[in-house]
Amino acid sequence: MRFASWPLCLAIAPLYAAAPTFYKDVLPILQDHCQACHRTGQIAPMPLVTYADARKWSAAIVTRTAARTMPPWFADPRTGHFSNDPSLTPAQISTLAEWAHAGSPAGNRTDAPHPRRWTPGFTIPQPDLVISMPKPVTIPAHGDIEYTYEIVHTGFTEDRWVRMSEVRPASRAHVHHAVVYIRPPGSTWLAQAPIGTPFTAMSMPDEQSRHDAEMTTSDMLLVYAPGSSPDQWPEGMAKLIPRGSDLVFQMHYTANGHAATDQTGIGIIFAKDPPKQRVITLQLTNSHFRIPPGDPSYRVEARGTLPNDALLLSFFPHLHLRGKEFSYNLVHPGENGAPPKIEPLLEVNYNFFWQLSYRLAEPRSLQAGAELQAVAIFDNSRKNAHNPDPEAEVVWGDQTYNEMMVGFFDIAVAPDVDKVQFFDRTPH
Ligand code: HEC
Repeated sequence: MRFASWPLCLAIAPLYAAAPTFYKDVLPILQDHCQACHRTGQIAPMPLVTYADARKWSAAIVTRTAARTMPPWFADPRTGHFSNDPSLTPAQISTLAEWAHAGSPAGNRTDAPHPRRWTPGFTIPQPDLVISMPKPVTIPAHGDIEYTYEIVHTGFTEDRWVRMSEVRPASRAHVHHAVVYIRPPGSTWLAQAPIGTPFTAMSMPDEQSRHDAEMTTSDMLLVYAPGSSPDQWPEGMAKLIPRGSDLVFQMHYTANGHAATDQTGIGIIFAKDPPKQRVITLQLTNSHFRIPPGDPSYRVEARGTLPNDALLLSFFPHLHLRGKEFSYNLVHPGENGAPPKIEPLLEVNYNFFWQLSYRLAEPRSLQAGAELQAVAIFDNSRKNAHNPDPEAEVVWGDQTYNEMMVGFFDIAVAPDVDKVQFFDRTPH
């Protein structure tokens, strides 16, 4: 009978199923999920590119992937789907484990996928243009380092649309964050500041410009922190660098015992065609909190109402060492006096050492008046292993022993709308 042999086949199959091999089964996983960081010159401590690399680390690969601490990803899987989620499937995790348990066989080289070609220093393809800070910044070995700025003229004589961009720090070990702002011509922001040479807010000539240094309505081209992914906008969307703009690098360096110099740059790939939508970055911020000493779960929220229709694309939460959770929600008004309904869009188990962006797999269309809420939970207790001082009351500040609460998010709007126009609430 046809079916009679089934049980036998099932019983025998595992004996004959060959163990996964490096070239056929493991390398494709490493290429797609690990090598963005695990290759020479990137943030991970070792490359996972060759068979020798992977074999040497096979035990650790099994442990870290089974624990889901590699690849790093902090979004609660029950909320939302994200296009840049690098997480492995249970089947991929088993493949890695079976491969290691079978003695990490190499297998047949001809089974290997094409080697992944990386642009040196970048995860995006070869940039059309790399704009670097013209002068290196000297980073001391010890002590707090004030935010350091450097302004670069783009020299663009026409509007340029950016489809992808990626920050390339020269001294990765010192760059705690970098924000690259687009300063359009005519902007008064940092008008007193020098061009092409590093400066800090403290070096500005008057109180007002010292204060203004960190306050700007300029759009951001990109925020970088270790582990964050480059910007790659969906087809038909791009960020605008208006002609005649400057780029302003805001660098936060942290001393790590070794003095160094840094000359960070940004790689840009321009859109081939004029986009249908313009991407702008907004933020939900609360800077008026006081986190009590020892509090294991202190809640801070920020809310904002969208003044116009927009397509919500992605999120980038930013807290410091006491950050524990961060969520973005949509607040739907309750009907007939019912309490508002909170719809979670992203819930992050926040980890200061991994500041990641989260890109919605399906961008969400929001209407004018939609209310967004960001909620941060801070752990200022002794139980937080990274807490620099559980005895301290903590307020907003630049340094990592101060706190921040910023929920950056990207939206797409009509191509001719800029950030200021977007906030114009008068009907057009
Ligand atoms: C976003 C960047 C990034 C990605 C993607 C990534 N890693 Fe890592 N990985 C790191 C960094 C940085 C470290 C060192 C810090 C740490 O141990 O958490 C690390 C550490 C590790 C370690 C521990 C090394 C040690 O010293 O014990 C292993 C093993 C590892 N990664 C495997 C993987 C594997 C396997 C993948 C893909 C499935 C992967 N990683 C994806 C950045 C990354």
